[in-house]
Amino acid sequence: MSSSAASYARILGANDRINVVVMGVGGRGSVLTQDFANASGVVVTDLCDPDYRRCDEANAALAENGFAKARVHSDIRKALESSDTDLMVVAAPDHWHTPGAILGLQAGKHVYVEKPVSHNPAEGELLVKAQEHHGKVVQVGNQQRSAPESIELIDKIRQGELGDIYKVYTWYANRRDTIGNGKVVPAPDWLDWELWQGPAPRSDYQDNVVHYNWHWFWGTGETCNNAMHELDIARWAIGADYPDKVEVRGARRFHTDDDWEMYDTIEATYSFADVTVIWEGHSCNRVNKHGRGRGTLIYGTKGWAIVDRNGYEIYDLRGKLQHEVKVEVASATTDTRGGGPLNILHVNNFLGVIRGTITDLHSPVDVGHKSTLMCHLANIAYRTGETLECDPSNGRPVNEAADKLWSREYEPGWEPTV
Ligand SMILES: NC(=O)c1ccc[n+]([C@@H]2O[C@H](COP(=O)([O-])OP(=O)(O)OC[C@H]3O[C@@H](n4cnc5c(N)ncnc54)[C@H](O)[C@@H]3O)[C@@H](O)[C@H]2O)c1
Repeated sequence: MSSSAASYARILGANDRINVVVMGVGGRGSVLTQDFANASGVVVTDLCDPDYRRCDEANAALAENGFAKARVHSDIRKALESSDTDLMVVAAPDHWHTPGAILGLQAGKHVYVEKPVSHNPAEGELLVKAQEHHGKVVQVGNQQRSAPESIELIDKIRQGELGDIYKVYTWYANRRDTIGNGKVVPAPDWLDWELWQGPAPRSDYQDNVVHYNWHWFWGTGETCNNAMHELDIARWAIGADYPDKVEVRGARRFHTDDDWEMYDTIEATYSFADVTVIWEGHSCNRVNKHGRGRGTLIYGTKGWAIVDRNGYEIYDLRGKLQHEVKVEVASATTDTRGGGPLNILHVNNFLGVIRGTITDLHSPVDVGHKSTLMCHLANIAYRTGETLECDPSNGRPVNEAADKLWSREYEPGWEPTV
């Protein structure tokens, strides 16, 4: 794992100005644009989005907050041409994460790539290789890795405070609207549909895919969208890399008869030798568990803990509260843009490593890849209808049908390569 500053090429000085290119200024990208712009010694110099309106909106928000307007682009290859930029943020849709991040690395930029790191497992492996090859810093956007309270809880777990961990239960619940039934129409004049699709095989423009609803068409789904956060905490808590078995139950679109292709309800169970990890996802039924729309519950032989983005609680085996830590200012939990103080800590951790003032990158790409892979495995188990038996050295299923979904087809000429 290459998470120490010493292993990165050309670390910037503590006072060097860092110029940032943001790829994708939708809900998430606009939050990150502000978080980077607000960081000390950082200037957002370039915004890129094939929706021509969105860069203007992000520029207006920069100006409103007293920052200079950035150059605007629709094609990320052009946006990366400037030699005066140091860092790229990838907040485009998931099918662009690995291909976009690799373009950034090839152009000599450090990369902050949103979760999931990849659209399929092979891409994640490729991005890990690309980071090693180019030696730049790559931070994955699962911001709870930078929560001081989560870091503290994991330290307590490592010190044995909960005893042996034998089970972790994670969940997410939301109430998402129907996406309706779309029509195939000409792409709108505010969008470059060719660039939006990029590495994805070409399809006709359908009027209920852009923006955000692409999440529910076959690809990454709610598991890569949200389980990625809590499954990452689960994997961190148990200190394991790859599961040996993955099972999915009760996964279906239950709520509305519309174009939504993936499940809106899913339960995935992972076996890591003696430890079981469960993820329960409800996209359309906001049943809070333990008073939270999302969270991670860790069972140990001496007690249990519950943790989310805003703190943790430790209980003894009789359920008596032993210790509680809450943040003063809460970060968003089920808001779809994921804003809040936690992002700022995560962005600053990334910037600190780039500047060489911090050595410990909180979410390097190999960590992000392993947690993203857990999400892909649930999707593959759902799609094949099989229980996956996985090679515990790399998480790759031995099932033939599942192995076929390890990669994807690309639009010719857009295949990511290292
Ligand atoms: N870490 C978090 O808490 C968090 C929260 C929300 C979203 N996300 C992640 O951020 C990503 C974006 O999510 P969103 O909700 O903003 O989606 P969105 O669909 O609202 O926005 C994506 C934007 O990317 C643009 N885009 C598409 N192709 C592009 C290209 N080739 N170049 C530049 N821009 C391009 C789109 O036009 C759109 O404006 C997703 O991958 C999501 O998983 C992370």
